[in-house]
Amino acid sequence: MDDFQYRNGQLFAEDVNIDELAAKVGTPMYVYSKKTLLTHFNKLRDAFAAVDPVICYSIKSCGNINLLKLLAGEGAGMDVVSGGELYRAQLAGADMSKIVYAGVGKTDAEIQQGIEAGIGYFNIESEAEFENIAAIAQQMGKTAHAALRVNPDIYDPKTHDKTTTGKKETKFGVDIERAKRFFDSYGNNPHCKPTAIHLHIGSPIYSPEPYVKAIEKALVLIDELRQAGYTIDTLDIGGGFAADYESGKSPDWQEYADAIVPLVKDKGLKIILEPGRTISGNAGILVTRVQYLKKGGNKKFVIVDTGMHHLIRPAMYDAFHFLWPTQCDPSQAPVERKAEMDLPGLELTDVVGPVCESSDVFAKQRMLPSMERGDLIAIYTCGAYGMVMASNYNAMVRPPEVLVDGDSATIIRQRETYEQLVTGETEPQAV
Ligand code: LLP
Repeated sequence: MDDFQYRNGQLFAEDVNIDELAAKVGTPMYVYSKKTLLTHFNKLRDAFAAVDPVICYSIKSCGNINLLKLLAGEGAGMDVVSGGELYRAQLAGADMSKIVYAGVGKTDAEIQQGIEAGIGYFNIESEAEFENIAAIAQQMGKTAHAALRVNPDIYDPKTHDKTTTGKKETKFGVDIERAKRFFDSYGNNPHCKPTAIHLHIGSPIYSPEPYVKAIEKALVLIDELRQAGYTIDTLDIGGGFAADYESGKSPDWQEYADAIVPLVKDKGLKIILEPGRTISGNAGILVTRVQYLKKGGNKKFVIVDTGMHHLIRPAMYDAFHFLWPTQCDPSQAPVERKAEMDLPGLELTDVVGPVCESSDVFAKQRMLPSMERGDLIAIYTCGAYGMVMASNYNAMVRPPEVLVDGDSATIIRQRETYEQLVTGETEPQAV
């Protein structure tokens, strides 16, 4: 699962004691395990080895450049959705030919930046966007490369409505029925060459079946396009592979690969994957300190020093994140992470943040060990869509990020300061 484990009732990140780390760095803090990050990347690559995929790590899931450098060092490409993410990939020294660039609203400046950098593919989200990219490439005297993002109209009932993208009525991609027409209009464009098909059906996808359905549809399209004389040499199957939020609830990489690889092997296609959370999700935890205990009716509330401003997933998607005190009686150390825990001496508890919103809740009526002011709690599987979605709501500063490697720890992003909070506001300028 990951390298955040209890030893004799004390939580460690690899060989670093979390309480000792918190005493030095302060709370709240995001803590990442280098070993988990790289192991997950390599396990995914190994599972798909038969098709030798280009793995374009999805920066949007967790974009700290120090983590990107580690992945680029393993040969990862990157999936970006903005000029800012492309900038991060550039700072991390990523191979630009392994960059794929998605997103429905790429601006002219971002398109220029991508063409200038020599990225692998623009994932095309609409006919209008294709025309714009081709025109900009022509003006620049360069050739861009494109993958048409098709919308295969696949719905995975387990994916939250707010993270489903493969259905017809979403803003992403072009309806698969329109794809042939797209190639008839643009397939031979000299400035932007569409030679690839891109899919991304949602996130997280908890079983291989939706991928199988989407890829089967894409392969029919690829056959049709090839028969019509178009060169299609690449299939990008997107991201969405799950992380372990609860023990045993997510498929492992081999399960996805066993279903997907036979479909795409020996088809003369380069295969691209765009995983984010399956690599970064379990590689990070959010560590927070208990501020106060209080009662509300018959409920027991534990109020902590982090909230929806640092981890918005529970408020935004009703997402489940396992959480547990970093120190506990060894008999209460969790061997599994589940919504319903059955260990001695647990109490029904709500864990809430300090933000002035009633949705600022991390755990509602969960069985947890009893806690006191000053105790630390770890919130698990926060590596993906944690820090990248953090905000300054309520004028609270964003937490630091710490990278653990064996028994050493490095601050890879400083805690924000009040000065940084108001940067850009202190010297108004006339326009
Ligand atoms: N490729 C494309 C085109 C995407 O839109 C996404 C995610 C990915 C790859 C990576 O998906 P992953 O492998 O990380 O599941 N904030 C939400 C998730 C939004 C996902 C957006 N797109 C959450 O916290 O669950």
